[in-house]
Amino acid sequence: MTINKLERFEDIAAFSHVLEYTDYQQKGADKPTGRWRENIFGNSNPITLELACGTGAYTLELARRHPKRNYIGIDIKGARIWKGAKKAKEENLKNVRFIRMFIDHLDEYFARDEVNEIWITFADPFPRAGDRKKRLTSPKFLKQYKHILPPGGAIHFKTDDTPFFNYTCRSVEKFGGSITKKITNVYAEKPNDELLFIQTAYEKRHIESGKTISYCKFMLS
Ligand SMILES: C[S@@+](CC[C@H](N)C(=O)[O-])C[C@H]1O[C@@H](n2cnc3c(N)ncnc32)[C@H](O)[C@@H]1O
Repeated sequence: MTINKLERFEDIAAFSHVLEYTDYQQKGADKPTGRWRENIFGNSNPITLELACGTGAYTLELARRHPKRNYIGIDIKGARIWKGAKKAKEENLKNVRFIRMFIDHLDEYFARDEVNEIWITFADPFPRAGDRKKRLTSPKFLKQYKHILPPGGAIHFKTDDTPFFNYTCRSVEKFGGSITKKITNVYAEKPNDELLFIQTAYEKRHIESGKTISYCKFMLS
């Protein structure tokens, strides 16, 4: 039986492992800022975010491989999050949460240094010059990541879009960050890092259509 968008929205509203923060004006809203480990996960394990997670391929696979870490997939599209959240529930993955929210508000929901690591997987490249500020590696977003990560906290970035990849490397350097790993063609260079071969839904499509997948790892302080 296929399930429609409305039913998916009803499901995610009922899932206790999916949080929805879409009413940013709400006064007195109970935000878990600074309390993710204790109140949401009930442990003191490190936290990894997957931004623009879609169906959460990295969130799920990393959570399966590392049960002693906490994983949070973030995206604004509820129907996509539903897929990942349903899998996490079926597999009883206790170390997974999803948040439906605009990433633009990240630093209102996570305290300084509260996050240990970030993955940005196949974020929209926003090719039009006027849309550059919407890119998840534009200075506005880097500033937020710097706030929520401790010094040395790693950001992993994967994309199929070469102009977006080059933009990201320039943006990080201009921001004063440092790129510690740069792989322009993951599947040709075959790096010795098995995590880079986890494939997201969009990545599978890009590979099928012959696109090159690039990756970089960077730090902002
Ligand atoms: C191209 S899809 C990639 C999804 C997934 N990472 C994958 O590789 O299959 C990009 C995702 O980024 C999300 N997105 C883009 N900008 C966002 C923002 N500012 N806040 C939240 N989600 C955003 C979109 O909703 C979309 O699901």
